[in-house]
Amino acid sequence: MAGRIPQQFIDELLARTDIVDLIDGFVPLKKAGKDFQACCPFHDEKTPSFTVSQPKQFYHCFGCGVKGTAISFLMEYNHLEFLEAIEELANKAGLPIPQEASLVKTDSNLSELYELLELVVRFYNRQLREHPQSKRAVDYLKDRGISGEIAKSFELGFAPPGWDNLIQELGSSEAAKQRLAKTGMVIKRDNGGFYDRFRDRIMFPIRDPRGRVIGFGGRVLDDDTPKYLNSPETPIYSKGRELYGLYQARHANKDLQRIYVVEGYMDVIALAQFGINNAVASLGTAATSEHLERLFRATPEVVFCFDGDNAGRKAAWRAMETTLPLIRDGRQAFFMFMPQGEDPDTFVRSQGRESFEDTNTYLALSDYLFDSLKQNTDLNTTQGQARMMEEVIPFIRQMPDGALRKLMVRDLANLVNSDSDYIESALGSGTSARRSPSRPVRRQQNSGSDNLIGRMISMLLYQPDLALRLDDYKVLEGVPVAGVDFLLELLQLIQSNRGISCAGILEHWRDTRYEACLKQLAASNNELFSVSTNLEAEFDDALARLLDKKSRQKLQQLATGKLSSLSEEDKATLRNYRKTEEKN
Ligand code: CTP
Ligand code: MN
Repeated sequence: MAGRIPQQFIDELLARTDIVDLIDGFVPLKKAGKDFQACCPFHDEKTPSFTVSQPKQFYHCFGCGVKGTAISFLMEYNHLEFLEAIEELANKAGLPIPQEASLVKTDSNLSELYELLELVVRFYNRQLREHPQSKRAVDYLKDRGISGEIAKSFELGFAPPGWDNLIQELGSSEAAKQRLAKTGMVIKRDNGGFYDRFRDRIMFPIRDPRGRVIGFGGRVLDDDTPKYLNSPETPIYSKGRELYGLYQARHANKDLQRIYVVEGYMDVIALAQFGINNAVASLGTAATSEHLERLFRATPEVVFCFDGDNAGRKAAWRAMETTLPLIRDGRQAFFMFMPQGEDPDTFVRSQGRESFEDTNTYLALSDYLFDSLKQNTDLNTTQGQARMMEEVIPFIRQMPDGALRKLMVRDLANLVNSDSDYIESALGSGTSARRSPSRPVRRQQNSGSDNLIGRMISMLLYQPDLALRLDDYKVLEGVPVAGVDFLLELLQLIQSNRGISCAGILEHWRDTRYEACLKQLAASNNELFSVSTNLEAEFDDALARLLDKKSRQKLQQLATGKLSSLSEEDKATLRNYRKTEEKN
């Protein structure tokens, strides 16, 4: 998604924004040393551990671990999607969001696809009203109790029987057919022809949070299989990220206090018909972290609804495992199990809205975890208690600090007849991805070159202009150390963007696998560099060590004859090298 706005624009936007001013507008900040502080707006606390650094343009809470750039702050604090946050910052900075040149050049294909899918929605809508066979579809919807009004608001459609209805309508040229194939709506045959993917199905358009159609689900009108067919992964549709109904839920509610996560399209629609217009469905897959981050940006409370059967229980456990690491203060998750044989669709129709919304039937995430584990553990025995500890501790370890974590520690202590201090100490031993601020900073353990690169990246995030100490970053090419490619990219970025801040750097790696690691380094580099550290000298030294590794490797290759032809210069180097080696 980050790709839709030119990175250059994001650089400029961040350069024009001051994160201290921005955050101060929402959460009054106090100067503390060289940083600014406040009580964290993302978790409940009495003493401030939320810190904003002006030079880094970065915020970090030592208590709950939230951290990021001005863009991240707006996304988290105002529950915005990335582009919405960009829009808001651009408005504040008085910068128009670029619509031309690079944006269009790289993304014209994508906007074409969105526009095309909009036409597909309209085509299938029309078929539901006008196609000679539409009565079957309309009857099916009526049979399932779907009102015309709700069918309209979810833009349900009908893909008529036949192999080329859509192609006839929207695939007049080869290019048009290719474009349809790109959206996943038609499929290319081996011999070069095309055919409609969705045939004789009720169509459910899927919109992203900005309202753009990105794909479809289609259901058969009878018991044929597969019951549902979904758009394949395309440049604009990824099922691990999108949620059916989120757009509609955000539209129907100014302030979403809760979101239900259900399994199916029909569940979302039936609930909406009964006035519960805040349900979403993950699209034929288990909810991913990305789904959940997106949900928690939109709402503080997520309620998972699962079938009461075995498959439902299994899915619930998976959802718990995915959610736990993301729970911090201000975010809550609940579980709700349907009676045997029911799903939210049938349940709300037979029991009504109030039963569905009866919060007494919701299990808090921690209760769900403990209840599930208690079922096969005898807590009256010490073995049972030990086993309980063993099972729960890895889960608690993944959680950020906050009220729920404390509560779980206390509950676990009660269950195993112990006290919270004991549990905390058990949590402290063993490996933890999380480091609490009270514990001293561990020295980086994996010594050697990885560490060297990590340290250099850390230094560059702390003081980007260190990169300018190197005339030509290319001298580092071929250094035989893991991570050097990344370092090169980073040096290049800073050299070509003089004055870029830590936050500016981080935004270049948003939504990549490096993002989390970079944020972690950015959050911890204050602790790494005491005032007395001479960063310039340390950086130069690290560079020298990397270059030394490169020349050593070259020498070794020379010595073992791995370099085919030796120049006179190489030979001289080699003789010198042997001499020094003999002396050592
Ligand atoms: N699903 C899918 N492919 C299938 C079956 C299911 O992608 N072959 C996804 C769909 O998103 C579907 C959800 O899983 O909505 C739940 O499936 P299921 O419980 O089988 O269907 P229901 O939603 O109950 O569908 P219906 O009530 O229409 O029978
Ligand atoms: Mn169903």
